[in-house]
Amino acid sequence: MASIFKLLFLILFLGLVFQGVAANCPIEGRFSISQSQTPDWAHGMPQWKVKVTNKCACAQSQVKLNCSGFQTNFVENPSILNISGNVCLLKNGLPIGIGETVEFLYAWLPKFPFQPISSIGDCN
Ligand SMILES: *[C@@H]1O[C@H](CO)[C@@H](O)[C@H](O)[C@H]1NC(C)=O
Ligand SMILES: *[C@@H]1O[C@H](CO)[C@@H](O)[C@H](O)[C@H]1NC(C)=O
Repeated sequence: MASIFKLLFLILFLGLVFQGVAANCPIEGRFSISQSQTPDWAHGMPQWKVKVTNKCACAQSQVKLNCSGFQTNFVENPSILNISGNVCLLKNGLPIGIGETVEFLYAWLPKFPFQPISSIGDCN
């Protein structure tokens, strides 16, 4: 009897551990970021569409990208991409759901290698 409880406890414990791992997915793998050139140009620069997808098992808010050195001729809606200094805030800091993709446009050459800096997991 006691061993069944131990087993149940172990299963519960491992479940919590794995849930924790999924919730605290490391920043490097938390988002997939892809970009493709659009047919449009802005003031002599090719335009790019960036797609940022939440790959984590929790919604992510306050999603910030490293925008150090980022330049653009196309002004995106700041409620989607708010550029402040070296940091770009996505979606006004609102949560990006599991599997949700946020898209924004910019225009420059060469294309800019966006990297996530930080986000806050909302695992409820
Ligand atoms: C942002 O990118 C720049 C240039 O690659 C790098 O020097 C800097 O350390 C990065 N900042 C963060 C917070 O990752
Ligand atoms: C952009 O972010 C800055 C810093 O968080 C904030 O003060 C500003 O109101 C934001 N701008 C817009 C248009 O959301």
